[in-house]
Amino acid sequence: MTDERPKYQRLVDHLRSLIADLPVGAAVPSERALADDSGVSRMTARKALAALEREGLLRREVGRGTFVSRPAVSLPLMLTSFTEDMRARGLEPSSRLLGRSALAADAELAVVFDVAVGEPLVRIDRLRLADGTPFAIERTTLLDRAVPGILDVDLVAASLYDVLEREHGIHFDAGRQSIRAAIARPDDATTLELAPGDAVLELVRTSIAGGTVIEHTVSTYPGARFELSASIAPVT
Ligand code: GLP
Repeated sequence: MTDERPKYQRLVDHLRSLIADLPVGAAVPSERALADDSGVSRMTARKALAALEREGLLRREVGRGTFVSRPAVSLPLMLTSFTEDMRARGLEPSSRLLGRSALAADAELAVVFDVAVGEPLVRIDRLRLADGTPFAIERTTLLDRAVPGILDVDLVAASLYDVLEREHGIHFDAGRQSIRAAIARPDDATTLELAPGDAVLELVRTSIAGGTVIEHTVSTYPGARFELSASIAPVT
């Protein structure tokens, strides 16, 4: 049997540069077309496609073909910020402001923050991007008295958690997070560049410092591009 390793590697490299130039969802040549065009066996072509599929760069759909995909970004279940999460993956975070306002706690938020109805809160909605690609919509509610003046801070350029730590001495020491699947709201689908009806992951985080609930954020991530990872502890 001939050693097809160099051919295999050449094919993988060729596919990688092809994928880099194509948008997500674009079709790549079939196993047979690749084998014919590159002068490799069908088996080598299949192995190369499978390797790139394992890396999350391709997605195969039975009976339809093989399409360009993006590797899933793994989010840790920890009290880290979006900025930290993206930088840890070698991606450059940025934000776009979608809205900000002062509000008074309604019955639901009063329970979340453990305050009286009417307690002053602030709301900041941001589109979060990584390397210029929309990654999440974050709707953040903060306890106003813990973060005076936060509505005047430029949270497009800065990390919220950095600002809380630097300007308000807030370091979160506890939190709760729940995750649910949902269908993207039509306006969110547009903002996140998703198709109508696409799935999203909603992470709802409540962050606590010194026993006070300071932050409540609903983060909406495109479902197909993210997975959540966590260390799991043994039962004691
Ligand atoms: C994560 C959390 C949010 C938090 C945000 C702060 O995405 N899920 O609850 O508000 O990070 O991010 P940054 O400090 O980058 O503004």
